[in-house]
Amino acid sequence: MAEVFTNLTELPPDPLFGLKARYTKDSRSDKVDLGIGAYRDNNGKPWVLPAVKLAEKKLQNDPNYNHEYLSITGLEPFLNSAAKVLLGENSPAIKENRIISQQSLSGTGALHLAGVFLKKFYNKSKDIYISSPTWANHKQVFETLGLNVKTYPYWNNSTKSLDLKGFLNTINNANPGSIFLLHACAHNPTGLDPTETQWNEILKALESKKHIILFDSAYQGFASGDLEKDAYPIRKAINEKIISSPIIICQSFAKNVGMYGERAGAIHIILPTTDSKLNNAIKSQLNLIIRCEISNPPSYGAKIVSTILNDSELYKQWKKDLITMSSRIIKMRHELRKKLEQLGTPGTWNHITDQTGMFSFTGLTPEQVERLEKKHGIYLVSSGRASVAGLNEHNVDKVAKAIDEVVRNVKSKL
Ligand code: LMR
Repeated sequence: MAEVFTNLTELPPDPLFGLKARYTKDSRSDKVDLGIGAYRDNNGKPWVLPAVKLAEKKLQNDPNYNHEYLSITGLEPFLNSAAKVLLGENSPAIKENRIISQQSLSGTGALHLAGVFLKKFYNKSKDIYISSPTWANHKQVFETLGLNVKTYPYWNNSTKSLDLKGFLNTINNANPGSIFLLHACAHNPTGLDPTETQWNEILKALESKKHIILFDSAYQGFASGDLEKDAYPIRKAINEKIISSPIIICQSFAKNVGMYGERAGAIHIILPTTDSKLNNAIKSQLNLIIRCEISNPPSYGAKIVSTILNDSELYKQWKKDLITMSSRIIKMRHELRKKLEQLGTPGTWNHITDQTGMFSFTGLTPEQVERLEKKHGIYLVSSGRASVAGLNEHNVDKVAKAIDEVVRNVKSKL
């Protein structure tokens, strides 16, 4: 039968989900999962947020609760409140009806929708710039859609800091109207975010070339525990009208509400001026893409998130939950760094606490990462990215000692 298909070859496993599968298969009882970015509690267990538990109870007690289809656009109260989480209650973009929101299959679904939409309708450029490095899925999502994927420098490996000069140079040299994908906060995989001053410079440069911004917002509230702080570049660009082109935001509630498998997310397109005809046209085209691909969005996760966002008590609880998660991760960063410094592990380790969000870009080489997995049962991505959420008081000592061992025994550039 092989002759009826052409160019059909087996692909290697996905780097992140392949890693997860290897971890699951490993029978060592003290194995440690620092791979996929999913929050774990201090016992290494998945955590259902207290706000989510309360929302589920509230939903189940609602006599009108059902599993009917949503509209093609999705759950309106979810979309309206999701936009406010991103832009703030008083955002002029919301008040002036300059925003089109469509529910998506979490952040990846939103990115895919953005790619399909831009490929079809954006006429200035098909060049999309992603950071180097970035989340592995970015490149393949846009390449698969036939966009021209290019990179901008981001991480300076020798200084373990932002390559702002390289970033700005690329912005300035790109064809006007190119698409720039920006991580709104908690950059994946480096854990390195621009400072507010650096963001201002980046936004100014993007505006001067009339590039369009695609924000990937997958970790709002996770980096600092503060929804407003983590939305800095989004609110700056939109609410202060720094950017005069349309802006697209891909929003995921996988991490900040722990809705990983429920695929609750949205795409928001913000127009520079009110134009109800254009709003309606965009909405209808997004609807068509959704109708063809998934018919209508899944409802359960959106209902949970919407219940939290539209109930002041639950919203308060959610904010507490964000602090619980972000502060435990910050604590673990400090623990790991302290232990490595106590062990005198060669190299410097301040970057672990300087970085933010779910991940630390440890600086470990692929060879060192391989040894961590084989010899110590500690799993992280070969780039050296560690999901700090996988650390806890019971395993951080083991992890520090294992890192110390591999750094001493596997030749590296550290
Ligand atoms: C990650 O980067 O680990 C997460 O965003 C999970 C994923 O889907 O890749």
